[in-house]
Amino acid sequence: MKKNYLAIFASGSGSNAEAIMKYFFHHSQIEIVLVLSNNERAYALERAKKYNVPSKIFTKTQLQNGEVNQWLKEVNITHLVLAGFLWLVPEIIVTAFPHRIINIHPSLLPKFGGKGMHGHKIHEAVVAAQEIETGITMHEVNERYDEGKILAQVKCAVLPTDDATTLGERVLKLEHEHYPKVIEAWVTSSADRPR
Ligand code: GAR
Repeated sequence: MKKNYLAIFASGSGSNAEAIMKYFFHHSQIEIVLVLSNNERAYALERAKKYNVPSKIFTKTQLQNGEVNQWLKEVNITHLVLAGFLWLVPEIIVTAFPHRIINIHPSLLPKFGGKGMHGHKIHEAVVAAQEIETGITMHEVNERYDEGKILAQVKCAVLPTDDATTLGERVLKLEHEHYPKVIEAWVTSSADRPR
């Protein structure tokens, strides 16, 4: 079977990026070959060093004018993984990777999604709305925030004693546990589709 080469886009801490690099470190069909960030201070870049994965920083212009596409092409990237990436993915990237970009969102989409909804803000909104459950959504990426085809969702309880911090910790654990496995199933099931 053909090998798949993944690039991770991360804007911040990169704990999901690390869970993914760890999971695929010795994988026979999937290799993480590049970590990309719009933020030179993203801790995700340090985590990439730990796994010997090369990294690059880009500007909005480089993302939109095709330069980032070129980098991805140079290392034969087959799939893109967003892990705490906070910018909208431009059409030039979406078109180059049809059905081959995945994202994780820390709520049960379509609830608590859309522009400006990320990280802590989501958990604050979930607590404020007195939801009794929340969770994670893994979905394909299109040109709109949080609207691509849903691939998997995993739920967890919101406890009466939760604040956004305790809830965020519970949800993040769920992300680390499930995201790598969902990526694995998604990549291997897409391997026979035309590129
Ligand atoms: C994660 O909770 C991820 O789901 C979320 O940002 C966090 C990044 O943490 N993404 C979004 O909210 C996207 N809308 P990490 O940098 O430690 O992986």
